Amino acid sequence: MTARATAVAHSNIALIKYWGKRDTAIALPATSSLSLTLDAYLTRTTVEWGAESDSVVLDGSRLNGEAESRVTRFLDLVRRLGDRSDHATVVSHNSVPTAAGLASSASGFAALAAAATAAARIDLTPRDLSILARKGSGSAARSVFGGLAVWHAGTDDASSFAEPIVDPGLDLAMVVAVVDAGTKTISSRAAMQLTAETSPYYPAWVESSRTDFTDMLDAVARADFTRVGELTESNAMRMHASMLGATPPVSYWQPDSVRVLQLVRDLRVSGTECYATMDAGPNVKILCRRTHLDTVRDAVAALDIAGVTTSLPGPGVAVSQAET
Ligand code: DP6
Repeated sequence: MTARATAVAHSNIALIKYWGKRDTAIALPATSSLSLTLDAYLTRTTVEWGAESDSVVLDGSRLNGEAESRVTRFLDLVRRLGDRSDHATVVSHNSVPTAAGLASSASGFAALAAAATAAARIDLTPRDLSILARKGSGSAARSVFGGLAVWHAGTDDASSFAEPIVDPGLDLAMVVAVVDAGTKTISSRAAMQLTAETSPYYPAWVESSRTDFTDMLDAVARADFTRVGELTESNAMRMHASMLGATPPVSYWQPDSVRVLQLVRDLRVSGTECYATMDAGPNVKILCRRTHLDTVRDAVAALDIAGVTTSLPGPGVAVSQAET
């Protein structure tokens, strides 16, 4: 019997970051995080069970090596859940430049989790889908949900899940300043592990990010855009500071990243309130109010960097088609 399903998931950008695991075996993060799912970048994945062996095609190219094993190991989890032994054909398309620090693994594993389970007729609650997606890539736990989502660090497998939180009218938008859409030099997975193992600043990161998370929940509940923005920017800078302390040091920044960070400060001074965040790549994401989206986009475009994309909050994962 063949069973096929297609799912679409959107990427998310953390305002309070996940950077480091306390348990790599079951992908438990060291700290809780909070993110905004974007409507701009998505992954569409079709999974069909009933094959002799697993195969994965991403944007027209067959995956091999570690990239393929990561998907195969994830499919093992789904096989165990559904008590099945057959294999799957996975075909995936990213609108996100893969592995460029634009959260392609988040949308990728959220879409894969939804498509693989729907095709196998495994009925999971959104929370359990988030727990499953987490084991593919931590940030994928949050892409199960639209808008603002928190991922609770938890203390065991069952308590480490994401869930949506209500936006009480923050009216958030994001401008992505694409500095370089090429593949990153070191994966977030490897870089966070190196930071946790070697950076003397890592314990300080964990401690301060815990406080940031609590403060952020409070700022969101009060719809305090300024505080949300300040926490977003300082949390990202502290994450990058912890990486600089690693041996060898990790830096994703490029000269144009710094130009964009300076622009964000200049925009604030001139009355356009916006704040920057960066992930495991040189691109800068700028958090602003929806009303300032065009102003910020035009200012970034004037820098003449690789590209600029605007985004509003996006939806949670959706199975667009399932058949048996
Ligand atoms: C900097 O979710 O890609 O984007 O769990 O090892 O797959 P793995 O890591 P991943 O890390 C994301 C790191 C980040 C911050 C964030 O999204 O919270």
